Amino acid sequence: EKGGFDSFMEKEIHDQPDAVGQTLLGRSDVDGNLILDELRIDETILRSVDKIVVLACGTSAYAGQVAKYAIEHWCRIPTEVELSHEFRYRDPIVNEKTLVVAISQSGETMDTLMAVRYAREQGAKVVAICNTNGSTIPRESDAVLYTHAGPEIAVASTKAFLAQITAAYLLGLYLAQLRGNKYRDEIADVLADLSTIPAKIQAVLDDADKIKQLGADMANAKSVLFLGRHVGFPVAMEGALKLKELAYIHAEGFAAGELKHGPIALIEEGQPVVVVMPSPSARDSLHAKVVSNVQEIRARGAVTIVIAEAGDTTVEAYSEHVFYVPETPTLLAPLLTTVPLQIFALALASAKGYDVDQPRNLAKSVTVE
Ligand code: F6R
Repeated sequence: EKGGFDSFMEKEIHDQPDAVGQTLLGRSDVDGNLILDELRIDETILRSVDKIVVLACGTSAYAGQVAKYAIEHWCRIPTEVELSHEFRYRDPIVNEKTLVVAISQSGETMDTLMAVRYAREQGAKVVAICNTNGSTIPRESDAVLYTHAGPEIAVASTKAFLAQITAAYLLGLYLAQLRGNKYRDEIADVLADLSTIPAKIQAVLDDADKIKQLGADMANAKSVLFLGRHVGFPVAMEGALKLKELAYIHAEGFAAGELKHGPIALIEEGQPVVVVMPSPSARDSLHAKVVSNVQEIRARGAVTIVIAEAGDTTVEAYSEHVFYVPETPTLLAPLLTTVPLQIFALALASAKGYDVDQPRNLAKSVTVE
């Protein structure tokens, strides 16, 4: 049942080309139009939405944070991402014009369920993005967009995360299509780019020996920091969460731009720092800015582990370790850059001899508030 792998987690990491592929399947036509029949919310309501609130916990919330960059860009609808358990305790502004997107792999997370109930009481429409057929959150939502990642057994979420990003992107593209804004023309291109993602994930998996080895070599690390910018920021936080959960060491994700506002004080000789490097083609010279962050932390003794885009050889001069992922548009990069971070955490935790499928103190479904 583990498909020849040592753990469910490893199997599920390798299921990811399929998880993304299945989630895309049958949801667009050959002309690049989205077909989301399951989105049974009146189109006039979807057209009048003036705010999107994404509610989720943990890894699913990081998927929401990634999606925010894409949804705001394509739809020009203000999008907030909030942890479900914070949401209803602060008198949030939600009404009939709010579209809530509840992201949950299990569909049973009590915090998210309670937030969904609260949002609906305020008149909001709720779309669930969920991996578990017929679970509670989809049943209590107005509509559901299922991720088709297949059952996720390992406690730490991997393939569901990539499938959630994929589904949230489809939702964003669908809203852009419906609302006919100026980004309408991009939809077919983005769909074409998305269709190349499964093969690119496979390429990352096929090339994973080096990052596996590095994870194993770092089994004695006491703390690992993760830096990212733009969509790479939530990816950095997800990479850190995987390491906390699986390897029980301190790990923290930062926005690279925030470094000089505090976290750089943490850097001392030998501190491992994983950097999710923006593509050299990213807007607003983000790449150059992160390269300069890497130089700053290296000058203070950090050991840098850089996830970069293929062809970006400039980073080699500034990094102890570089891992390349295939070239892809910036908004889709998280579907690739996350994968080496999952493999790194898995390898490090395995080298420590920990049970990666059942980390201590954690449950797969958190059904209490
Ligand atoms: C992390 C992890 C958790 C879940 C969170 C939400 O690897 O698995 O952070 O992502 O508990 O769970 P769902 O998505 O089932 O609502």
